[in-house]
Amino acid sequence: MKRLNIAIDGPAGAGKSTVAKLTAQKLGYTYIDTGAMYRAVAWQALKKGVEHDNRAIAELACNLDLKLTNIDNKTNVTVAGHDITEAIRTPEVSRLVPKVAQVGELREVMLKLQQDMAKPGGVVMDGRDIGTRVLPHADIKVFLTASIAERARRRWQELTAKGYSISLAELEAEIACRDKEDCEREIAPLVAAPDAINIDTTNLSIDATVASILELHREKQASV
Ligand code: CDP
Ligand code: CDP
Repeated sequence: MKRLNIAIDGPAGAGKSTVAKLTAQKLGYTYIDTGAMYRAVAWQALKKGVEHDNRAIAELACNLDLKLTNIDNKTNVTVAGHDITEAIRTPEVSRLVPKVAQVGELREVMLKLQQDMAKPGGVVMDGRDIGTRVLPHADIKVFLTASIAERARRRWQELTAKGYSISLAELEAEIACRDKEDCEREIAPLVAAPDAINIDTTNLSIDATVASILELHREKQASV
């Protein structure tokens, strides 16, 4: 059986990483979290104090010793052997990452890395520009959405469980701001590919979403 590539895009909190990870697990495919790659660069830019210097950000990306490892249904992220899995999920990094993600030279470096990762096939990759730019010939493209209120509620639950004190209204405003930055940027904006299947997860369970994608995979595999 041919190992297919699956592209999953959508805004923050739509369920991309949860659904992509489970789909990859069911199919024995590799899950690639491209958001974690952009987050790692934003984290390092903050650490080095170069978050306003586009050239320095692009240089960071070129020299980044980044590793993504999937262990126990979780993507572990290291930079130069240093575990930054949790550090890249802070609200501070979340606020910075859409700004860093607008740097064209950085996106070029990421594009090449991500395309190389998908070359062997059997990859489930999630992000913002996977179906439009990174894997324009992906076998299956899914665009996940959910209402802003539901996405903020999901993120709020995650952050409060980790001990962060943030109001739901504040988080909703932050997510709306990140959506706007991601959708309105010049290079590789967040937009559904014309041939993507749209799935609204506002009232859809994780299992039901995964089941829909597995069905798309079954149909596609039968046709190739
Ligand atoms: O998990 P969440 O949806 O909050 O975000 P993420 O997937 O970790 O991505 C964080 C940010 O990285 C996004 O808001 C984008 O600004 C950027 N990103 C991107 O520009 N292109 C991608 N393929 C993936 C992420
Ligand atoms: O990757 P993305 O930002 O699109 O979303 P996620 O990190 O996969 O999902 C955000 C949160 O929403 C997680 O805690 C998921 O368990 C939850 N979720 C949900 O409750 N129902 C769904 N249909 C999808 C995700």
